Amino acid sequence: MHPDLEKVLFSEEEILACVDRMGRQLSADYDGKNPLFICVLKGAVLFMADLVKRVTIPLEMDFMATSSYGAASKSSGVVRILKDLERPVEGRHVVIVEDIIDTGLTLAYLKEVLLHRRAASVKVAALFDKPEGRKMEIEADYRGFVVPNEFIVGYGLDYAERYRNLPYVGVLKPEVYER
Ligand code: PRP
Ligand code: MN
Ligand code: MG
Repeated sequence: MHPDLEKVLFSEEEILACVDRMGRQLSADYDGKNPLFICVLKGAVLFMADLVKRVTIPLEMDFMATSSYGAASKSSGVVRILKDLERPVEGRHVVIVEDIIDTGLTLAYLKEVLLHRRAASVKVAALFDKPEGRKMEIEADYRGFVVPNEFIVGYGLDYAERYRNLPYVGVLKPEVYER
């Protein structure tokens, strides 16, 4: 385990087993729809890569980058689009691929943007859900794990851009973000 972590919450094996289930469910639900999977950079990049390998139907991918946290350990409350999609979503069945829903601000904003651009449908696949952090009424359509209200990192999730490459997810020691 990384020395900055207090404990591991989900091992690589547990995460991949969950991603596998989500991939099978999405394959069944989107059969014949040629869905557009939108990865919300940067946090969702590992989840996206593992998820699409487990989806057995044709799909397309696009990427968007948002930021609500910056280098802080709390959400700023303002979502910014740092990188936009390459192609129009009009008429497409969109699956937003997110690593985590906390306040819900990022997703609420993204959903609004995509529906405004006339996507045929917009659903959300989120690997982690922190329901206690919620400020907006929004839920995932496909959810991996419910997590406690603690600062977690790994498997794409960062603190000040660090720890994204850990293959597992753990709780960061408070002394790391308090110093
Ligand atoms: C994190 C995370 C989600 C979002 C969730 O992204 O990856 O996208 O915050 O928080 P919310 O529900 O409170 O909006 P962040 O803005 O840190 O950018 P990153 O993915 O590049 O780390
Ligand atoms: Mn993110
Ligand atoms: Mg972040």
